[in-house]
Amino acid sequence: MTGFTVWFTGLSGSGKSTVAGLVGAMLEERGGAVEYLDGDVVRTHLSKGLGFSKEDRDTNVERIGWVAGRFTRHGAWTLVSAISPYAATRQVARAMVEEHGPFIEVHVHASVEACAERDVKGLYAKAFAGEIPEFTGVSDPYEAPESPEVVVSTESESPEQSAARVVAALEERGLLTGGR
Ligand code: ADX
Repeated sequence: MTGFTVWFTGLSGSGKSTVAGLVGAMLEERGGAVEYLDGDVVRTHLSKGLGFSKEDRDTNVERIGWVAGRFTRHGAWTLVSAISPYAATRQVARAMVEEHGPFIEVHVHASVEACAERDVKGLYAKAFAGEIPEFTGVSDPYEAPESPEVVVSTESESPEQSAARVVAALEERGLLTGGR
């Protein structure tokens, strides 16, 4: 089976993990060996102890990129969801994966205002109150991808619609053949 990595990038609360979960379920139906690397989860294990300075975020994203490359090499359909705010660091991750298979960058777009309105984890309220320093989109940068393979908008479409568009993009590239 040919592996690949789908890399979901976007603000906290933009819907990366939700869309990745829906895509994963659809890919499992196609017989894929699906593996997830979610920033929040990775930070409890592989990146435990890292903070949110540029240096620590870069370390986190490079670690995820390295692991995604290994998974891809072994045929896994790898779904990464991490803010990954810096374009150059996403490029490093892309290069690590592309040694082994395709890298599909998906920009999960939702404005800061929309994410703050949802505020699922209550973090935006704290960030606006100055209680969380270096918060992406509020007091820290987010460099949107300039030419991602796919852009989905969780403001103007449902998570299911976003997920279906990602799966269609994978299908168009001929990546969903040869499942288990
Ligand atoms: S990344 O920048 O290194 O790619 P990652 O996706 O792993 O970030 O983790 C982001 C998650 O950490 C957010 O969804 C949020 O729950 C939490 N978080 C805590 N502090 C911050 C912060 N200062 N900026 C962004 N996210 C934060």
